[in-house]
Amino acid sequence: MPTINFIEFGGREHRIEVPAGTSVMRAAVDNRVPGIDGDCGGECACATCHVYVDQAWLPKTGERTESEEELLAFASGSEPNSRLACQIQMTDALDGLQVRLPEGQH
Ligand code: FES
Repeated sequence: MPTINFIEFGGREHRIEVPAGTSVMRAAVDNRVPGIDGDCGGECACATCHVYVDQAWLPKTGERTESEEELLAFASGSEPNSRLACQIQMTDALDGLQVRLPEGQH
């Protein structure tokens, strides 16, 4: 199963293994990784699953969707490598994906 490495704002790391097809948001919430809320349940409607994708992984995680782009425009601390974790589905090709969490989700 592919693994995701979540790095909290304070630097603490969480390596989480999930089945392919699981969203990065679901992986965090189901495994109690602090720092990702996922308030809308993955509907791309809340932006409380904001993460920063490690530069090396950006080409593999794909493009932001239009609605994701709109939500990220209003997310605090949004950067060019920001994504909504509910919009990234894990695949075997993403094994080892590294994402950093923002200081807060609002
Ligand atoms: Fe709401 Fe990702 S969980 S936008």
